Amino acid sequence: MATAVKLSGITRRFGPLKANDNVSLSIEKGTIHALVGENGAGKSTLSNIIYGLLCPDSGTIEIDGKPVHFSSARQAIDAGIGMVHQHFKLVPSLSVTENIILGREQGRFRIPSSHLAEQIRKLGEQHGLETDPEALVCHLSVGQQQRVEILKLLYRQARLLILDEPTAVLSPTETERLFITLRSLVTEGRTILLITHKLDEVLALSGTVSVMRKGTLVGTLSTALATKESLARMMVGRDVLLRTANPIQSTGRTVLSINRLTCSGLDGVEKLRGLSLKVSAGEIYGIAGVEGNGQNELLSLLWGTFEGEALSGGSITIDGKPVKGMNPAEIAGLGVSMIPENRHKSAIIAEYGIKENLLLGRHREKEFHQGPGFNRTKTENLAKALIESYDIRCAPGTNPAIGSLSGGNQQKVVLAREMERPGLKLLVLAHPTRGVDIGAIEQIHKKVLEARQNGLAILLISSELEELIALSTRIGCLFKGAIRHEFTEAEVREGREKESGFEKQIGMHIT
Ligand SMILES: Nc1ncnc2c1ncn2[C@@H]1O[C@H](COP(=O)(O)OP(=O)(O)O)[C@@H](O)[C@H]1O
Ligand SMILES: [Mg+2]
Repeated sequence: MATAVKLSGITRRFGPLKANDNVSLSIEKGTIHALVGENGAGKSTLSNIIYGLLCPDSGTIEIDGKPVHFSSARQAIDAGIGMVHQHFKLVPSLSVTENIILGREQGRFRIPSSHLAEQIRKLGEQHGLETDPEALVCHLSVGQQQRVEILKLLYRQARLLILDEPTAVLSPTETERLFITLRSLVTEGRTILLITHKLDEVLALSGTVSVMRKGTLVGTLSTALATKESLARMMVGRDVLLRTANPIQSTGRTVLSINRLTCSGLDGVEKLRGLSLKVSAGEIYGIAGVEGNGQNELLSLLWGTFEGEALSGGSITIDGKPVKGMNPAEIAGLGVSMIPENRHKSAIIAEYGIKENLLLGRHREKEFHQGPGFNRTKTENLAKALIESYDIRCAPGTNPAIGSLSGGNQQKVVLAREMERPGLKLLVLAHPTRGVDIGAIEQIHKKVLEARQNGLAILLISSELEELIALSTRIGCLFKGAIRHEFTEAEVREGREKESGFEKQIGMHIT
């Protein structure tokens, strides 16, 4: 088989850090080659090197058997390489057609735009990438925008397509649709380099998989010989439990009760349309749904931060007490902790040390005071206990700024602080493992299940179906502001024990 890309001994430093360390890799033509690795392993650096956005310090690149030295993406594009970045690079105020031809305008001899639009429509139909060429990009869903990004590459006649985490933002239905497109592209002889952290997708889609860890290429193997466990071990460098045991647990009294919640945004658009659910002590209630179906409004109503509360109806009670009109401190006083989606914005102070961050929100508790200042022994002991119990990684005796830690380590600090608050009854988790490595995910899942065993009521909002299935007692499918379908405890347990198929079943109720 012919080789599309051959990298030999690629090294790229950022200061003292080797983001790519002597990486050698061949990608065969007409295949889907997956590239996996934890955050910071060097995947994006490597793909940016292939795409001409970064120059390697040493090493060589061959495309279609010829050595190349790209100093810009333009040259890579001319050599038939295209890349869809994790964060799309479309211009929202331009139409689909304008975005696709951007940078490829034909100079003085412009092709009439109606002709172009027709050409793009056809190209889309050929590849299962149907789009309206005249639509403005700002009016498209994320899935549609991605189709435009891929069309753009095809319009430029890219033969090697690099996709960086393409399914991170897609619903299950959109993901399946993308897979069909990708498979058809390789049967036409194109080559795909797929960067992903979802091991299920690697197994379902790729023919070959390469694993990176800390800048080096740990190995390349035929996907047929790989399992999720073996890939995870190569990524992390140790055995990883991919699914924490989820034993049966009897549930107690209702802690959170949400009844027919409705609300409109400040723009008058209805966001919640009669959402009802109950969460009991000892239960994890998982909410599945594509983002934008009311998750944010639910969270802000629960936490007393919704602007325009007057526009909402229905009720939320915690242990029988209505939270309407309460501020976040008062709600926390009922025994509620919230792990927000964006920890940087609202859960940590990046330039403070781990220890200070572990004390945030508890710094007023009498226990930690002595005279006018803090009781050093008590605060030190709390930090030490939490660092140990949550396996927060830092050199003993040091207190680095939390901003310098990995995403997984930061999240463990937030969880440790919020889950160990005295008097806690209800824990609200929003995307608790987003941007977190699989090794740390394992530890976080273990802690969440432990907290449930200890009788906490937990509301879990996640866009990762795999996470919802692994942790939840029951699963509610959120669609257009209401729970459209609820999977019972028995159904979720059965779904968890099945090897596959349950994700699809959930997917049907959220799109
Ligand atoms: N422009 C840059 N400047 C400094 N360090 C960088 C830069 N880009 C990446 N790095 C570092 O290089 C390492 C590899 O990063 P990256 O290639 O983005 O990994 P991945 O895509 O696998 O998450 C990380 O430690 C990252 O912080
Ligand atoms: Mg990356």
